[in-house]
Amino acid sequence: MSTFWIGTGWKMNKTVAETRRYVADLRARLPGEVSADYALFIIPPFTALAAAREAIGAAPVLLGAQNMHWAEAGAYTGEISAPMLEEFGIDLVELGHSERREYFAETDATINLKVKAALRHGFRPLLCVGDSAEERAAGASAAAVVRQVRLAFAGLAKGEINRCLVAYEPIWAIGEGGVPARPEEARCVHVAIHVALKELGAPSVPVLYGGSVNLDNAMALAGEPAIDGLFVGRAAWSAEGFASLISKVMAARKNIRSTPAEAMSAIG
Ligand code: 13P
Repeated sequence: MSTFWIGTGWKMNKTVAETRRYVADLRARLPGEVSADYALFIIPPFTALAAAREAIGAAPVLLGAQNMHWAEAGAYTGEISAPMLEEFGIDLVELGHSERREYFAETDATINLKVKAALRHGFRPLLCVGDSAEERAAGASAAAVVRQVRLAFAGLAKGEINRCLVAYEPIWAIGEGGVPARPEEARCVHVAIHVALKELGAPSVPVLYGGSVNLDNAMALAGEPAIDGLFVGRAAWSAEGFASLISKVMAARKNIRSTPAEAMSAIG
């Protein structure tokens, strides 16, 4: 069974003190042994990265940043560069979230520059792509997100794309008032992204789903073969919520793995 990713982006939430409490609480609640079949991650705000790194210690939780600039340094007031992030020992960097595209004018071109810079510095880019409600209504969801994937990865070698993660986050599904994608709807878009990644020579890039994931829908989404992970916002902003979601998904996937069909394919 390939690695299943479960992570949370905190957006503009949590102080240093709150981060310390969250991570300590999460560590206490995580299942005794997290198997190698799972990759867990948290993405706090920049200001809490140092505290998060320290609090994670040896726990099996990867650490990510929510954004970064593509330049090494320079006259970009308010921005954070890759060399600055290196000092925190981050594993991932989230790039192109729809909130950044919408509120901070990020474009496919600047996201492409950021992906390249992240790779140069050894971070694993978590590229976020998403369709708008209008694109969905026009039946253009898959085309819209595949376009974003192709532009973000333009000019990259196959081996570089293979070091990335993609998160499909429908804009209409994210945040308060968002409606989570039905598993079969997410499936269609995930399959289209997987096909595009295969055409780009990077068939094994994991594609996570994000957008109103919660304790009620996480198991069904995680049961979709084209969904390689869950990227969670609000439902994981308490350590209790995140740990419950992780435990539920692990339990549900254990059952999937032990179905006769799975057992047969494992053998043959
Ligand atoms: P919600 O789970 O709160 O809808 O947020 C999803 C998201 O944007 C994760 O990056």
